[in-house]
Amino acid sequence: MYAERVVSGMRPTGSLHLGHYHGALKNWVRLQSEYPCFYFVADWHALTTHYDTPEIIEDNVWEMVIDWLAAGVDPSQATLFIQSRVPEHAELHTLLSMITPLSWLERVPTYKDQQEKLADRDLSTYGFLGYPLLQSADVLIYRAKYVPVGEDQIPHIELTREIARRFNYIYGREPGFEQKALEAVKKLGSRKARLYKELRNRYQEQGDEGALEAAKALLDEAQNLSVGDRERLFGYLEGGGRMILVEPEALLTEASRLPGLDGAKMSKSYGNAIGLREDPESVTKKIRTMPTDPARVKRTDPGEPERCPVWQFHLVYSDDKTKEWVQQGCRSAGIGCLECKQPVIDAVIAEQAPMRERAQRYLDDPTLVKNIIADGCDKARELARETMREVREAMGLDYS
Ligand code: TRP
Ligand code: SF4
Repeated sequence: MYAERVVSGMRPTGSLHLGHYHGALKNWVRLQSEYPCFYFVADWHALTTHYDTPEIIEDNVWEMVIDWLAAGVDPSQATLFIQSRVPEHAELHTLLSMITPLSWLERVPTYKDQQEKLADRDLSTYGFLGYPLLQSADVLIYRAKYVPVGEDQIPHIELTREIARRFNYIYGREPGFEQKALEAVKKLGSRKARLYKELRNRYQEQGDEGALEAAKALLDEAQNLSVGDRERLFGYLEGGGRMILVEPEALLTEASRLPGLDGAKMSKSYGNAIGLREDPESVTKKIRTMPTDPARVKRTDPGEPERCPVWQFHLVYSDDKTKEWVQQGCRSAGIGCLECKQPVIDAVIAEQAPMRERAQRYLDDPTLVKNIIADGCDKARELARETMREVREAMGLDYS
């Protein structure tokens, strides 16, 4: 039950482009065969900033799921769902809000940054302040181990860890914990119980992290433990209470960063993006007209790839030989810019061909997408419910 799950979400605020692909989706695709992955449409998060344009969210939810599928996210491996269809996220958010100091939210750097950046919107709302806490609920509800995110999201994962720790500290303590933990140890069977105690000692007395990991792995594999006992044994390793919520780790995308056509961050609103499923003619035209080294006015002027956004594309798309050809040819004015762009055009179109193909199936038959999401929601919900049972009980809310 503490399998190494991966959770990540994306806000449906616009159609996806190649920046999303290289920055996030490629990574999602890689992870889906390594871990049980839960990928969701963060529609509530989109509402925190786009509360007055619900049509944008509605339009983009299904398009975004098709983009994911086009990019190679495979619903037979990963679980795909929509946040608002698993209302347990909101329940956990409410319950976590009870123990979240306001100052923790106010000091999250994205809070003030985004308010300043999106100054045309009124973001002095309760929902927007709670954005990172809702994100914490998204992750904690699946007791996820890893959260693949970009660098800007690190403070949100850090908050999530602090919230989990605080929750376990407040609600993981129970009368007679030590006694109950020791009884749970016995249930491991004599051989495993001995090993568990040994590893726990090694960690507590010598700070041996390897022993801690080994003990956790031992618990992961233990079969006949109740949820409560498992939480006790995890908690007993490190402290004096049950570990009800699990601290996740950010999994930084070693993103091959793909900037926009003008070298700035790729974004639909800057008009410098290439859509994930854009047609080849349009891709060709966009790349052919993208700016190059401004110092290269005439064909005979030598250029400098470091000053050219096309070079950034080569870094992502070209092999060493082509890159060598660009560096040489540019600096010696041996090649023209259109010539230089052609391998990029070819590579982008080749990358997109299977995406357009995969998407077509879903565009032809939208019920396929609806079914994938319906299945994913059911699966996610089952896990979310399990965690909520524990959380409610811990917070005194199980009136049975
Ligand atoms: N805040 C994330 C972003 O803007 C989206 C998100 C919402 C998310 N909930 C999440 C990411 C949970 C990871 C896990 O990119
Ligand atoms: Fe840019 Fe290539 Fe032109 Fe050099 S030759 S300026 S790298 S497009």
